[in-house]
Amino acid sequence: MVEPALTLDQLRLLATAAGAAPSVHNSQPWRLRPGPDARGMLVFGDPHRAVAIADPLGRALHVSVGAAVFNLRVAAARLGRAAAVRLLPDPSDKHLLAEIDLGEPAARHSFGHRLYPAIQDRHSSRQPFANRDIPEAVLGELIEAAREEGVLFSPLEEDGVLRVLTVTAEAERRTAVDLARQAETRSWLHLEAPASDGIPAAALGPQDRDARVPMRDFTAGRPDAPSPVPRHFEPLPQLCLLSTRTDQPEDWLRTGQALEHVWLLATVHGLRASVLHQAVEWPETRWRLRDPESPPDHVQLALRLGYGPPGPATPRRPVEEILDLTDHHDTVGFGESSA
Ligand SMILES: Cc1cc2nc3c(=O)[nH]c(=O)nc-3n(C[C@H](O)[C@H](O)[C@H](O)COP(=O)(O)O)c2cc1C
Repeated sequence: MVEPALTLDQLRLLATAAGAAPSVHNSQPWRLRPGPDARGMLVFGDPHRAVAIADPLGRALHVSVGAAVFNLRVAAARLGRAAAVRLLPDPSDKHLLAEIDLGEPAARHSFGHRLYPAIQDRHSSRQPFANRDIPEAVLGELIEAAREEGVLFSPLEEDGVLRVLTVTAEAERRTAVDLARQAETRSWLHLEAPASDGIPAAALGPQDRDARVPMRDFTAGRPDAPSPVPRHFEPLPQLCLLSTRTDQPEDWLRTGQALEHVWLLATVHGLRASVLHQAVEWPETRWRLRDPESPPDHVQLALRLGYGPPGPATPRRPVEEILDLTDHHDTVGFGESSA
């Protein structure tokens, strides 16, 4: 059975869900357009929103867009539609990152209902977490969630955690003395409300008093930025790596989908998370993130998981800004509200 064209309300619900995804520096580097006959969605990367110095290849941009694609899949399931995703469907258009066909009904037991509420509940939490282990069964579910997206999710033991902390701290130090990178980070620090993107003052977390967990310094030396009082972080954070076998744009998009799948499921389980991305942004430290004993996978991202405060909501661009309806005024059911 083929589903009818998406209504305007349904398109807006899908775009709102996609736009709530995590993104590097909250840059929200995506644009959406209804697909043919408004029975799907095209997802584009937005090069004007790239974090070009820290992310010259567009890896983090693709990861961010992949996370938005995952949210869109969850929201589609909530609308009772299956989402058939084609990544990089048009070799002649490198900005078209995904084509999502929503023309078929969802399977009865789809993940939409379980994960959908977590789309708005999920936030980056840059506060210290409790000194409490995550149950093996929960970690097992997260591993399986990433595996479904074609990505390896590895919760690290102590030696791995120490390796990633050391390498991340080194990358953070390098970034702190790189004037161009500091200026770029500051350009995404939006202390003056209201802003619709970037890092607001409320999202700035404390640094670790014991200098063990290298949280990113988003203030990048800006003198008027608030500096939260340093706190003691958890003695041995639960860090996890997301890795892929190859290192192509498609792998980055899969990583983003896996990141968001894991993060939403973790949210359902009452877990909080923050990304530690600094070491990924220097080729040499990115290479040293990997486990030297395991096959030569490509580390795409490090995630800190734990129990703690939820983290504040961060701003998002209005849906009208990310959803382009110019060619679809005749196709979509304007005014209908069946979402
Ligand atoms: C590819 C990528 C890299 C990120 N790097 C970092 C990082 O190094 N440090 C950090 O605290 N947050 C990092 N984040 C989280 C974003 O800053 C965050 O998603 C964004 O500000 C929106 O906030 P939210 O997650 O609360 O919705 C990263 C997110 C993505 C997708």
